[in-house]
Amino acid sequence: KRPAGAPDAALAKPVTKVGIIGAGLMASQFALLFLRRLQVPVVITDLDQGRVDAAVARIRGEIDALAGKGRITTDEQQRLSALISGTVDKADFAGCDWVIEAVFEELGVKQQVFAEVEPHLSETAVIATNTSSLSVEQIGARLAHPERLVGFHFFNPVAVMPLIEVVRTPATDDATLATAMRVAKDLKKNAVITRDTPGFVVNRVLAKLLGEAMHAVEQGSSFEDVVEAQRAFGFPMDPFVLLDLVGLKVGAHVLDTHHGAFPDRFFESQALHELAEQGILLEKDGKGEVKGI
Ligand code: CAA
Repeated sequence: KRPAGAPDAALAKPVTKVGIIGAGLMASQFALLFLRRLQVPVVITDLDQGRVDAAVARIRGEIDALAGKGRITTDEQQRLSALISGTVDKADFAGCDWVIEAVFEELGVKQQVFAEVEPHLSETAVIATNTSSLSVEQIGARLAHPERLVGFHFFNPVAVMPLIEVVRTPATDDATLATAMRVAKDLKKNAVITRDTPGFVVNRVLAKLLGEAMHAVEQGSSFEDVVEAQRAFGFPMDPFVLLDLVGLKVGAHVLDTHHGAFPDRFFESQALHELAEQGILLEKDGKGEVKGI
């Protein structure tokens, strides 16, 4: 069944080469997923050669680990390792027909990286952003072809979480949306199409849950009691372990964005910013045991 608002699948363009902007942990997880599911060349870029080399080594290490566990054959291990490459030269994105960014959540940074790569892409390329809290339309403000831009929002851990939010802006054309839906399917993910509103759908709900959990602690509840209170709902992770997984800086940023967009409905969490600055983790052993503020 076609998801609500999905265009005709026949409009989807082929994806024969993938470009990934950013060489952090999230970007490496994307690279591995695209390699395994699409089996096409994947090129990863960043500003710094050292970061790029480290990412390629990390991805090859993950491929070796999959082979070690018998999840892929030795042939596939060699093929996938040969398909990944790294570069600091955006010209190496020539021929990419799918590009996705996983760089810092700052509007100017995302606009800049897309402006740099766009001239090198194939004519039918889709440009995807993994932003979790910025306006996709604004990210595309400096593109020559904003109709090729779409939000493609993954969840942590990328390999395991089944959902992708595909975000359509007023400019996104049907071919771009159809390609994004097909890529999500090829990645074996479930896609939902969302509007370009702050937090899309998932983070609107999640920011409420995580923000209220932090706020309860700031108002005097213990971490342990908040964890215990939420246990009743059967979430796979308690809110503080989930905040560690998402990253406290990212979590604080998501809360700020929601507070900015809906000041009467979302809290900023000063405590979360402070914990992020101090590099404190909210969980000790993955079982919800927490350190206090
Ligand atoms: N990376 C890769 N694989 C992982 C992983 C990770 N970090 N963590 C777990 N896995 C894999 C395991 O290897 C295992 O795979 P196999 O079955 O193939 O062996 C599988 O996931 C299940 O692992 P476990 O049995 O150890 O763990 P679990 O049953 O406790 O599930 C979980 C782990 C799937 C992460 C689960 O705890 C969960 O769903 N947590 C909630 C995660 C969530 O809500 N994420 C969204 C965060 S919001 C976000 O990312 C977006 C944003 O914009 C802020």
